Amino acid sequence: MDTLSKVVSLCKKRGFIFQSSEIYGGVKSLYDFGHLGFLLKENLKEFWKLQMLFEEFPIFFIDGALMLPYRVVKASGHIDSFVDPLVDCKKCKHRFRPDKVEKELGVLKCPVCGSDELSDTRFFNLMFRTNLGPIDPLIELLNSSSEKIGQDTESIFRRIAEQSVYLRPETAQNIFVQFPNISRAYPTKLPFGVAQIGRAFRNEITTERFLFRVAEFDQMELEFFIDPDQESALFKVWQEKRMTWWRKILNNPEHLRLRFYDKSELAHYASACVDVEYKFPWGFDEVEGIACRTDYDLLAHQEASGKEFFVLNTTTDMRQVKVRPWVIEPSCGLTRAVLAVLLDAYSELEGRSADGEEKVRVVLRLKPFLSPIKVAVFPLVKHEDLISLAKEVFHSFRRHRIISFYDESGSIGKRYSKQDEIGTPFCVTIDFQSLEDKTVTVRDRDTAEQQRIRVEDLISFITPCIEMPI
Ligand code: GAP
Repeated sequence: MDTLSKVVSLCKKRGFIFQSSEIYGGVKSLYDFGHLGFLLKENLKEFWKLQMLFEEFPIFFIDGALMLPYRVVKASGHIDSFVDPLVDCKKCKHRFRPDKVEKELGVLKCPVCGSDELSDTRFFNLMFRTNLGPIDPLIELLNSSSEKIGQDTESIFRRIAEQSVYLRPETAQNIFVQFPNISRAYPTKLPFGVAQIGRAFRNEITTERFLFRVAEFDQMELEFFIDPDQESALFKVWQEKRMTWWRKILNNPEHLRLRFYDKSELAHYASACVDVEYKFPWGFDEVEGIACRTDYDLLAHQEASGKEFFVLNTTTDMRQVKVRPWVIEPSCGLTRAVLAVLLDAYSELEGRSADGEEKVRVVLRLKPFLSPIKVAVFPLVKHEDLISLAKEVFHSFRRHRIISFYDESGSIGKRYSKQDEIGTPFCVTIDFQSLEDKTVTVRDRDTAEQQRIRVEDLISFITPCIEMPI
């Protein structure tokens, strides 16, 4: 089995991530996060939030609405430019993106059956459209008189589009649209940032590779507002800052690289862009894009809304001038970060079973600050006094807000394996010696080595090992 398949099955078996609506056959591009997946994702979020909140620059957070009205996505360019090409194979009916296939195979043919009998290329918009309020423009249209239906198709489509709302295709737009309010509420000098963590939606033609390309995903985006003169210097600053963040969440930072875009690859809003890429099992691929968006978005919303988008800057001769800021945008895919971290952590280590036999140990070597569970507590066997002390230790971790797990079921070897597989960095076992001298064994996930620690020292031993690095 390849590593991706092993990670997918581990995620299901141990309760990190499940296929959405699995009992009804599942939806390929949707996933539900279970308890452990949720905690892992929360830890990644927290780590990103820390970088933003304790930056040298002021950074404010927002938590915007998921639905955007037509006027926002029209002004932002997503109605006209957020489109992908699409081709159908006439032989096997497979549907795919011709630009991607041509890039991968060097020739345009069906990637499934190899046929070159293909439909013409069509373009379709990646946004999910829905309606807000009791009036569904589609139903309205169906109920309307044949006279109205007789209108040309283009105007019918336009009417439906204009009366619809759209699930946001990126978290960025709420930030741009709220810029006048934000800059009034928190007046500050350039540069400053506005950050948001949240769900984005794209009706991708090809959904693939587990969490890599899905229809619903989380982004952690920073819109960093700058003086236009600072663009090149701050573009570099953010590349370095974001690479430092990525290096801290992975065991193999050499699996990261930056890839600079060719002009022809740039999104409709970008003047320059660099991707942070991670070496996935199928090769280097994007996990974050850092783009120079100039004043594209603020200008677009200024023109479409008639509102002013500026900050007041003081010139060297102390005059106050209005400046429409430019933007540098580090846009991190949180869902992709979860996948990269899981793949990076998945390891098969040499080990021994409880009866001394050699075996492979599956260990999720997550950085301890990312691990969903920080410490597992076991009584060695089901003995009343061991259970009582184990529960006492477990509750002391809980009192210190250290996420811990108590388990007294099955052999100690099986309990260790289970915690190894979910990435718990420490297992604390209470044995008969513990009753005599109030010491316990603390087993390290990666080395499987154990050391005896006094119960009263456990919190101060474990806390520094699981803290988020700043
Ligand atoms: N606001 C800019 C923007 O959205 P993007 O490169 O389209 O830029 C940013 O997306 C990040 O969001 C990507 O680097 C990727 O990590 C993540 N992402 C984009 N589409 C995704 C999808 N369908 N599934 C999972 N993650 C996705």
